This record gives sequence, C-alpha cells and structure tokens, in this order.
Amino acid sequence: MTCPVAHDLDPLAMGFLDDPFPVLARWREEAPVVYVPAIDRWMVTRYADVERILTDPATFSATETQQPVHPMCPEAAAILATAPLVPTMSNCDPPEHQRFRSVMSRAMSPRRMAALRPAIHARANELVDRFAGTGRVDIVRALFYPLPALTIFDLIGFPAADSDRIKTWCAGKLEVNWGHPEPARQVELARKMVEFVDYCAGFVADRRRAPADDLTSALVTDERVLSDAEITSLIFALSFAGHETTTNLLGNMLRHLLASGAWQEIGDDRALIPGAVEETLRFDSSVPMWRRVTTRAVEIGGVALPAGSRLVLAFAAADREPTMFPEPDRFDIRRPNARRQLSFGRGIHLCLGAGLARMECEIVTDLLADRLPGLRLAADTPVEFSPNLSFRGPLELLVEWDAPAPTEA
Ligand code: HEM
Repeated sequence: MTCPVAHDLDPLAMGFLDDPFPVLARWREEAPVVYVPAIDRWMVTRYADVERILTDPATFSATETQQPVHPMCPEAAAILATAPLVPTMSNCDPPEHQRFRSVMSRAMSPRRMAALRPAIHARANELVDRFAGTGRVDIVRALFYPLPALTIFDLIGFPAADSDRIKTWCAGKLEVNWGHPEPARQVELARKMVEFVDYCAGFVADRRRAPADDLTSALVTDERVLSDAEITSLIFALSFAGHETTTNLLGNMLRHLLASGAWQEIGDDRALIPGAVEETLRFDSSVPMWRRVTTRAVEIGGVALPAGSRLVLAFAAADREPTMFPEPDRFDIRRPNARRQLSFGRGIHLCLGAGLARMECEIVTDLLADRLPGLRLAADTPVEFSPNLSFRGPLELLVEWDAPAPTEA
C-alpha cells in the first residue's frame, strides 16, 4: 500500500484549531494512519488502533511524549540540556516506569485525593465570591485558570505566593514543547524552563531537610528511595500535568453545557454531572492528541511503519468514531458509554490525576449551578485556542448572568 500523506494538514494552524473534528473525521474515514509532514509524524485516528497502541508499551514507546513537537534551535536545545531532568512518568518506558508509578500511586492515593475535596470547594467558592455580583466575567481567567493550579501546587507543597511564577513557567513549557515558537523565543523559554527546574530542585532539597505534609514530602520519605533528581523531575512534570489539562476541561465543559442547553438539565438534576464530564472528555477533550514512537517495524491500519516512527494518537478522532459512539457529533450528557473515551489514555500510563480532574469538574459544576443558575454564554464572543498540538480549551470564555442589583449603602 502507498503511504498516505496529509499535505494540507497543519494541527497548529488556526483554522484546524477552531474546529478540528471534520478534518479528523475525514482522515479517519479515508486514511486512518496518515503521514503529516507539517509535524513530521504519523497520525493515527481509529479507536481500535489508538487503543492497541496505548496498551502495547513494548512496541510503542512513550519516550516521545515530552519532546518538542518542532525541533528546537541548537542554542535553545543546549540551554535546555543543562536542566537535570530524567524521564519519569509519561515519557518513561517499563521497567523503569513501574518504579515511579508505584511510588506516585501511593503519594497520589485515592484517600489523599479525596481529602482535597473540602479545600477545592472552599477555594472555588471564594473565587466565585469575587465576581458573582458583576453579571459578566471571563470565567477561564477568574475561576478555571486559578483553581486547578492552586489545587495541584498546594498538593505538591509549593507556596501559594509562588503560584503566578509557576503558572508562567508552565505556559512557557507548553509553548516550547507543544507549540512552534521562533528561535529567539525558544532561547528565552529554554532559560525559563531551566529556572523552573532549578526552582523544583531547590524545593525538593528544602523538603529533604524538613519534610512537611505534602506530596513532595511523601516522595522524599517514601521507603522506595527516589533520587532528588528523580523527584525534581516528577514534580516538574506534575505541576504542569495537573492544571493545564483541567483548566481546559472546565472551559470545554461549561462551553458545551451552555451552548447545548444541557446546563438547565444539570441545574434540575445534579446526578447528570459525572456523565457530563465524561461526555466532554469524549466530545472535546482537553488532550486531543498524544504521542508514541515505534520500537520495531509494525503494521497499523494496513500501513507498514519502520522502527522509530513517531506517532500522534488523535484521541479527538478516535472518540468520535461512529461505530463506537453513535451520533458522535452530538453532545449528549446521557451517553451510556461516554466513559470509554480515550482522553486519559489507557494501559500502564493511564492518567494518574483522572480522579482529581473529575472531582474538580464535578465540584465546580455543582457550585456554579447553585450560585449562578442563569449562566449563559455572552453573545458574539469568538472562542480562541492556544496554537499547540496537545492541550485544547478556550483561552477566554465570557459568560453572563443576572446579578443582583447592588444594595444602597
Ligand atoms: C482533564 C484532565 C486531564 C487529562 C485529559 C489528562 C490526560 C492525560 C493523558 C492523555 C496522559 C497520558 C496517558 C498515556 O500516555 O497513555 C496522562 C498521564 C498523566 N497524567 Fe493526566 N490528564 C488530566 C489531568 C491530570 C491531573 C489533574 C494530574 C495530576 C494531579 C495528572 C497527572 C498525570 C500523570 C502523573 C500522568 C503520567 C502517568 C504515567 O505515565 O504513568 N493528569 N494524563
């Protein structure tokens, strides 16, 4: 079979980012494994193929997942090479991966995650207090951006006063690893990444000296000893994985709930919220694409690929496959099998924060339904997305409601 090539597809182009689904559906039907020159990778779009790849780590290595999508210029690459990072979780293969996974699973136990519930609820309430009287807000900036970040930073143990700095570093990491910045910007961002890694290393050293009640302390005191460089790499990865994804999921979810009218149904029946979270992950995932690289020659979807082939797994296409999800382009919060979505991955790398992400979305949706039941999308506000391969959510979401008139002093 000749190699299908998607010459006209650029996953970082604005037109694609605005609405990638029709393009992905076309490729899934016409050529479910297709070479995409714009990113020099093979894109895989069928559900069964994506699931097979995720569950065969011996053939499909995860070492690619944190590499820059576009190669860095030599100066930026040299700066970044000075950062003492080692592969740990999402970019690590067995058997090493298992060592990290078991320590992290203990540190992120369901009990520790469930214990965060009251603090998440209280923080969300405080953030809503700040704008509830205004009648109009960019809810991404006011709530969806700060809440998951403060939650994960608190879990790791980072001081609240450092949150803005850490958020800025994470945004830089997103741009340089999953976007396509100019060389001068790459150099600037590489320096910031090294600063961020140094900050994480300093924080681990502090906790090694004086453990506290947080996840980093749990890692430094775990009996299956990890080195400081390994723990630094772990919290560097976690500080990013734990909030960009959830900020975006919250934005995608509220946008589709309001646009589809399902918001009213949620208001009447809160038991629908967990299904709405799953359907959002299926319908418009905050991680629409993820990566692997082949360790040997292999055939996928009738296309023969040599060892070393870099793959983009298009969850956003697989999760709209009609044979798996009937009427896939309909946002249906009652869809019985929405939980089969692939957004959190599958197999040994299945997202460790899935429970926390689900809990944050449930708490926020329930709270907004209580406090701002008449919420609606502000008219004529275009939704824009950050130009990157793997993290999708509205950069801004203007919403309105009927705020109570201010009382006379
Ligand atoms: C909507 C929210 C989220 C989405 C869509 C998401 C998605 C993903 C995906 C696709 C993977 C890779 C799976 C694979 O390679 O097979 C992953 C791994 C991971 N995620 Fe998440 N994630 C989310 C939230 C979180 C949160 C809140 C945390 C932390 C508290 C987190 C921590 C992790 C970790 C540690 C891994 C690596 C697991 C491993 O390699 O064993 N994620 N996530």
